[in-house]
Amino acid sequence: MTGQIGDWLDERTGIRQIWTAIFLRKVPKVNWLYTLGSATLFTAMLQIFTGILLTIYYVPTPDHAYNSVQYITNQVPAGWLIRGIHHWGASAMVILTVVHMLRVIFYGAYKFPREVTWFTGVGLLLVVIGFGFTGYLLPWDQKAFWATTVGTRIAGVTPFIGDWILRVMRGGDELTAVTLARFFGVHVWVLPATLVTLLVIHIYLVIKIGISAVPKRED
Ligand code: HEM
Repeated sequence: MTGQIGDWLDERTGIRQIWTAIFLRKVPKVNWLYTLGSATLFTAMLQIFTGILLTIYYVPTPDHAYNSVQYITNQVPAGWLIRGIHHWGASAMVILTVVHMLRVIFYGAYKFPREVTWFTGVGLLLVVIGFGFTGYLLPWDQKAFWATTVGTRIAGVTPFIGDWILRVMRGGDELTAVTLARFFGVHVWVLPATLVTLLVIHIYLVIKIGISAVPKRED
């Protein structure tokens, strides 16, 4: 029965060829360090899933942001769990991305023909840092407010265009409702869209080019 459904679907979509190319492709003998990219990918999916759930109750305005986060943590069923996973997942994501990148550096996996995979990886790293920076403000508590005050001020000392960057980030001179709306918009729309675009290219290249082998001493 499942075979028949598979045949039916395959005739119309070529799904078996796609499945084989993705999941049954040949890979060289590698070690556990090669699982770091997949671990990062899994964490990214977890962040997207828990992040979507959080937006159901989170309200991105100065009047309600703090209370909505407290409500999620203390009242919503399993809200503490969803928020906890998203909170710790953010740190896990940064650590995993960096350690994955270190594996790529130490194994020389950024060399020909994988330069574009590397470039998209650099973009992904910036996106992950951006997620952390914009997400930190959203609980709108004292820690969030002052961390973002300092963070935007640091960006503000960039030579020549610092003042302009600071005003774009804050949406004015001070941290206000505009800043919160801006950070929220970037956190839930701009960065996820960029992440997915870069990830599709990154993973496509990993599959198309194939994974690099563990370098030998004489390489
Ligand atoms: C959201 C962040 C990222 C995700 C989800 C991700 C995912 C992956 C996956 C699943 C692989 C294949 C398995 C592996 O080698 O571990 C991979 C390979 C690779 N990644 Fe990433 N990656 C990310 C960030 C980065 C960063 C920051 C860099 C470097 C700046 C990078 C550069 C590469 C390169 C060059 C390869 C090919 C490695 C090889 O063929 O040996 N990636 N990535």
